[in-house]
Amino acid sequence: MAKRVGFATRLGAIAAAVGSAVGLGNIWRFPYEAGVNGGGAFIMVYIVCILIMGIPVILSEFIIGRSTHSNMKAALRQLSPGKKYYLFTYICILGSFIVIGFYSVVCGWIIEYLYQAALGNLSGHTPQEYNDMFSALVASPWRCVGWTILFLVLNFLVLSRGIEKGIERVASIMMPLLFVILIIFCINSLLMPGAADGLRFLFEPDFSELTLRGVLDAFGQAFLSLSIGISCLVTYSSYFKDDTSLVKDATTVAFLDTMVAILSGVMIFPAVFSFGVEPTAGPRLIFEVLPGIFQQMMGGYVWALLFFLLVFFASLTSTISLSEIPITFLIEEHKTSRPVAIVWTAVITLVLSTVAALSFNVLDNVTLFGKSIFDVMDYAASNIFMLLGGLFTAMYVGWVMDRKVIHDQLTNGGKLKGAMEPYLIFCLRYVAPVSIFFIFLYLTGILY
Ligand code: PFF
Repeated sequence: MAKRVGFATRLGAIAAAVGSAVGLGNIWRFPYEAGVNGGGAFIMVYIVCILIMGIPVILSEFIIGRSTHSNMKAALRQLSPGKKYYLFTYICILGSFIVIGFYSVVCGWIIEYLYQAALGNLSGHTPQEYNDMFSALVASPWRCVGWTILFLVLNFLVLSRGIEKGIERVASIMMPLLFVILIIFCINSLLMPGAADGLRFLFEPDFSELTLRGVLDAFGQAFLSLSIGISCLVTYSSYFKDDTSLVKDATTVAFLDTMVAILSGVMIFPAVFSFGVEPTAGPRLIFEVLPGIFQQMMGGYVWALLFFLLVFFASLTSTISLSEIPITFLIEEHKTSRPVAIVWTAVITLVLSTVAALSFNVLDNVTLFGKSIFDVMDYAASNIFMLLGGLFTAMYVGWVMDRKVIHDQLTNGGKLKGAMEPYLIFCLRYVAPVSIFFIFLYLTGILY
């Protein structure tokens, strides 16, 4: 068994979990999903989902991870000897590859924008020109694939040199800085002419705009954003110390993650309305809008550079946690060495990401259910793999796991109050399964 080390401080453990949660899911995907799904009502559903499913599933992953100090497969074997629950781990591994497959393409775009920011190209243009700029990027297979590969090489270099801890340390400076910068950008956006329209779009729920598909998207978005449903937080919490308060950590992670998502919305939507960009622009939304925001700010050149640099680090801490899912699995379950595990993970990821990057250009005529390969991966990852994974985790902890273990984990062996326990069990047993089940019934058309 590979040597297991713990986080040095409570802050280290939390910073790593927040590092995993905060990433492109908050800054790129949340605004575009909110835009596509009508804004306010989507955000209301999103917040409800964080409360009734997000926090309970984070806690479930923490309970599984810390009670066993093992990866998902070993944990499930240890918790349920002789049962086949551990097979679920393979779904987690598949899910993690699909997420990283489309996610790293967007990380590649971030590097291109960092480069363009450094060249000073993110100012002095019209919104249409920024639109064309993004279109030109995704239309070019070389640029799209090239940046994606560059990002993945950096990601796996960090993993292979074992400097993740260093990255975490860097991230614990970068993350608060990202927070501060988001607030500054929000203030700037709120001073724009279209600010009121943007805020109304974001916070005034118009439920006539919300479809069932939108509700599913909100759930999927919450799971992707919190990094739950594919055992990522099981792996991380397996390193937590026994005196960490799981409830406190889970709520902190959920709170900070949701704040970053909402701040990203407040940064983007006033500008969307001010520049006349379509809120439904989808994955390209922030790339069309952000340059216009920088342009309006004094010292825009520096802001642009700093912003993309911080987003780059936020994405890197997320892809590191994603890559750790298969890497830890290979090392601990298949006894491969770390370099071999990294090479296997890197090769599979490279293939998937290259296909996803090519789906904007060379492979743009290949569609599945009317969606491009990138969109299929994006949709399948959060709305299918992570959601169903979350359902499994919720039901496993709610119905199968020994209540004594759950109680011990929540109270640290009786040292803390376990006030959250009845709420947790109720959500895991009933709320999570029933809501996900109904959403799926509607979507498959069985229920109208
Ligand atoms: N939560 C990350 C984000 O919002 O960008 C993405 C992510 C990381 C998803 C790790 C899943 C995961 F296991």
